[in-house]
Amino acid sequence: MHDFRYKNNELYCESQDVREIARSVGTPFYLYSHNTLVDHFRKIEKAFKSVDPLICFSMKANSNTAVCRALVREGAGLDIVSGGELYKALRTDINPKKIVYAGIGKTRREIEEAIRADILFFNVESLPEMALIDDVADMLGKTVNISIRLNPDVAVKTHRYVVTGTSESKFGIDFAAARRILERTEAFPNLRINGLHVHIGSQITRSRPYIRALKRVYSFMKKIPVKIEYLNIGGGLGIVYGKERPQTAPRFAKAILPIIKRMRVKVILEPGRFIAGNSGILVTKVLYLKESLQKNFVIVDAGMNDLVRPSFYNSYHNIQPVVRCLQKRAPYIIADIVGPICESGDFLAKGRRMPLIGQGDLLAVMGAGAYGYTMSSNYNSRPRVAEVMVIKNRFHVIRERESYRDLIKGEAVPRELR
Ligand SMILES: Cc1ncc(COP(=O)(O)O)c(C=O)c1O
Repeated sequence: MHDFRYKNNELYCESQDVREIARSVGTPFYLYSHNTLVDHFRKIEKAFKSVDPLICFSMKANSNTAVCRALVREGAGLDIVSGGELYKALRTDINPKKIVYAGIGKTRREIEEAIRADILFFNVESLPEMALIDDVADMLGKTVNISIRLNPDVAVKTHRYVVTGTSESKFGIDFAAARRILERTEAFPNLRINGLHVHIGSQITRSRPYIRALKRVYSFMKKIPVKIEYLNIGGGLGIVYGKERPQTAPRFAKAILPIIKRMRVKVILEPGRFIAGNSGILVTKVLYLKESLQKNFVIVDAGMNDLVRPSFYNSYHNIQPVVRCLQKRAPYIIADIVGPICESGDFLAKGRRMPLIGQGDLLAVMGAGAYGYTMSSNYNSRPRVAEVMVIKNRFHVIRERESYRDLIKGEAVPRELR
């Protein structure tokens, strides 16, 4: 569920008229509902209440400081994957002992910054990474918590780019190698290896692959000579973009809690999409309507640089007019909804049935709150869009639209070229 609804045929975010926000901030812009964000967080929290989980929102889904802060205030931890995310996480006033750090390519500098910040633990993805963390911990005179990211070799039905738990994926450590590490923990005197981590992919709509992965982890746990205190089961919970029928948080919890309870560990979850995905939309304006010999095109002012998911993953987003037509049998068109970027792969939707819309109309690209702004870029030298959050009956610009000056920030022209 989310708080984007029509009232008298106008789209509202909570009690704010989306058209009014567009009039004030211009288009395109991302719009988030604070209430929906918090509600989604609470749904997971409630479903897993019996095991008192630590729910670390995955910042890669949406790292806007206001978004993260809203969740941190609710008690969320944060799942980070870079020095930049650590920097931003610390600006939310989070207790650093609620930060977990994943990613296969942590640099020495990033590791040092995270140890100094006193995070809960690193999810370690390779032996050389473990050796480096041990070395940095030694230099800083600290003992560092480590959770080993296991690759459980479990297939999931999702886009192949977001499958992360199969043996050909670059993520995690296979069971045999992890076991070898855990049998010689004395090689890492500055590390306390007390956690296991699995993250099998994203936009997963069924519990079965999680159960399969957890069963493998449990049987692994029983064979190792180390006491495991933390089990981080990753993120990946799927959401409704179109026709999906994903498991709800209570169903997911009901399916996996029996095995988790047997493990007697502190459970950590890292949901990103589940919390942020349907909490945000991208609002864009129709620039032109164009008919080619074969197709209708609706050309809008948001492109693949603003929302890359359709181009990158061929993903479906529901696209709705911000002001709905009052007529019962309104005329419609079948069109590709495309952006202004100079790439044929720049589209938000293909062959979509849309109510007949006109130049200047506003469209809402639904389910854009996760992997939307965070994956956006300046391609074609387009300033990145604004982000807005509705809290109760007010809206707040939580990130200014970039200016042309921002496009040249940090650039320098050598004297020879002046
Ligand atoms: C290690 C890890 N944890 C959590 C997540 C969040 O996944 P999702 O947004 O599907 O919940 C990801 C996403 O790629 C991830 O790599």
